[in-house]
Amino acid sequence: MLADRRAQRIPLQYLTGSAPFRYVELAVGPGVFVPRPETELLVGWGLDAIAGQSRPLVVDLCAGSGAIAVAVATEHPGAVVVAVERSADALPWLRRNAAATSVRIVEGDAVSPATVPDLDGHVDAVLSNPPYVPLGTPVSPEVADHDPPAAVFADHDGLGVIRGLVTRAAALLKPGGVVAIEHDDTHGSAVPDLLRASGAFTEVADHDDLTGRPRFATARRLAD
Ligand SMILES: C[S@@+](CC[C@H](N)C(=O)[O-])C[C@H]1O[C@@H](n2cnc3c(N)ncnc32)[C@H](O)[C@@H]1O
Repeated sequence: MLADRRAQRIPLQYLTGSAPFRYVELAVGPGVFVPRPETELLVGWGLDAIAGQSRPLVVDLCAGSGAIAVAVATEHPGAVVVAVERSADALPWLRRNAAATSVRIVEGDAVSPATVPDLDGHVDAVLSNPPYVPLGTPVSPEVADHDPPAAVFADHDGLGVIRGLVTRAAALLKPGGVVAIEHDDTHGSAVPDLLRASGAFTEVADHDDLTGRPRFATARRLAD
């Protein structure tokens, strides 16, 4: 019975095979991170930032199930959306969820300059929910036993992927383009500091999630 399996702390979304995210239902299961409500706020911020543009170029780095990419493509039909993911286990879910959209899927390392180099300097918005939990942080059984570790944890300080994303976002964005990066609730100062220290951004800000905890940092690309 489903209730018995849920009592074993298997994530509800793995049992139903579906996760709601803003206006879409995403197929999920073993091998892919279950989208979380806090990421819906990041997407809302990104959509507001590109609202006045008829054909913005948006890149979702660390796309997982495609939650960010598919939501943006659905809510801003004029957007050209590229989703980057490197996990062989997550990619089939991403392909399935993006199948009915125009999202371009790229298999690769989101922090490598060799991934989508053709987009450097052309992107209007980089949106990302990367792995960001510091190694050793206690997590629930649902996360510990079911979310892919590479989707959750990022080095001892949780910033291992985010450091590379800051650099990569600076290269991808055109002047005036925006970046939003979700982060651990202990990193409400650290991620804005990384954005400021890069020297590439202005309007650096941090935003809380629905529980009032620091959850994502945003910034605007300066001209070189
Ligand atoms: C926290 S999950 C987020 C997935 C999705 N963006 C969401 O919000 O539901 C992080 C994702 O990043 C992927 N990932 C981790 N490191 C990566 C890297 N260097 N390049 C590309 N993808 C990466 C993981 O496989 C995982 O799918």
